[in-house]
Order: sequence, then structure tokens, then C-alpha cells
Amino acid sequence: MTVHAFFPTYIYTANLQRAGSKDLNRQILQETRQLRDDDVAGRKWSAKNYPGGYTSYGSVHHLQRISPTFEFLQRKLQRHVKAFAEAVQWDLTGRKLEMTDCWVNVMARQTVHGLHLHPHSTLSGTYYVQVPARSPGIKFEDPRLDRMMAAPPRRADAQPENRTWITVPAVPGQLVLFESWLRHEVAPNPTASERVSVSFNYNWF
Ligand code: NI
Repeated sequence: MTVHAFFPTYIYTANLQRAGSKDLNRQILQETRQLRDDDVAGRKWSAKNYPGGYTSYGSVHHLQRISPTFEFLQRKLQRHVKAFAEAVQWDLTGRKLEMTDCWVNVMARQTVHGLHLHPHSTLSGTYYVQVPARSPGIKFEDPRLDRMMAAPPRRADAQPENRTWITVPAVPGQLVLFESWLRHEVAPNPTASERVSVSFNYNWF
């Protein structure tokens, strides 16, 4: 007798680089604060769509093209994106994955990022810059959940691969990659300190 486990959902985590994350994070933090000060449109967009927080998603979302710091981040992400594509075994013959968007997120106390996916993208991810103790990780939902009409819930002690939701901790200097159709959310930041991250999308061209 064999019970097969097919159709996996891949979530990739890694340290961005072996060393130097503290310097990079300090620089990203500084540019993020400057951007928040300058970006009137972004603050307006955030007030409506990201209460309490600031994101450049709706305004300055090509940071890799306008800042050497984010261009550096993009370069450092390349090997991770390649490794993820190899794990999933995508056939990219004649095409390649390219970063289309890159933006910053600042979650103040009680800022929440509701359940969402990233339409029009192939691969998405986040790099963590500043994560106060007790501030949340990223929570992923089983993509088959909307079909599980009469399926019993999973046991509280179920193996991670059998759970309906998985939270990947946010750790400064680390990144997470996933396919853009995978729904995810970030719970409210319960701390007084800001949780800062950089998110990005890739498409295949
Ligand atoms: Ni997202």
C-alpha cells in the first residue's frame, strides 16, 4: 500500500547573502524612510489601502530601476529565483524570469495586510529588513481550500504539509519566495515598532 503526496506547493526561504545583511538593511531602511517622506502619492494610497502603514506599492513600485540599493537586492535575489524555478521544474525554454515590481512595506502598530494574491505575476516574494520581536510572519493558505467543501478540518497536530495554513516567520536578512497565485496575509503588527520589508514580483518573458 502506498499513499502518494502529489501536487506540492513550494515555498522557498533562505538568507539573502552570507554576510552584509546588516549594512544592506540599514541602507534600505534609510531609503524607505526618505521615500515615505517624499512620496505624497504613496502616503495617500497607503492611507486608503494600508491603514496605519506605508507601502510604495501604489506609487513607486519599480525601486530596482531607480535605486542602486534595490538594484543590488535584485542582483542578490537572482540565484534564489533560479533555485526556486529549478525546484518547481518550470520549463522556461527561451524565456526568463524578470523582476517587474519591487516596493517597500512599513507596518506600524496594528497595520495588517489582508489575504491576497499577486495577479499578473509568476513568482512573488519578500525580503525582511526590520522585524520587531513578536511581529508576525507571512501566513499562507492551502490553495485548494476553496474546493474542500465537505472535507473535515485537519487535526491540530497535523504535519506541516497537511495543514491548511502555514506561517513562515519573518527574519531580517531572510527572504521568502512563492508562486504568485498562492494566497497569503500578514496579521496585525502588535508591537510599537515598525516591521519593514521589501516585496517583489517576477514574470516570465
Ligand atoms: Ni503579497
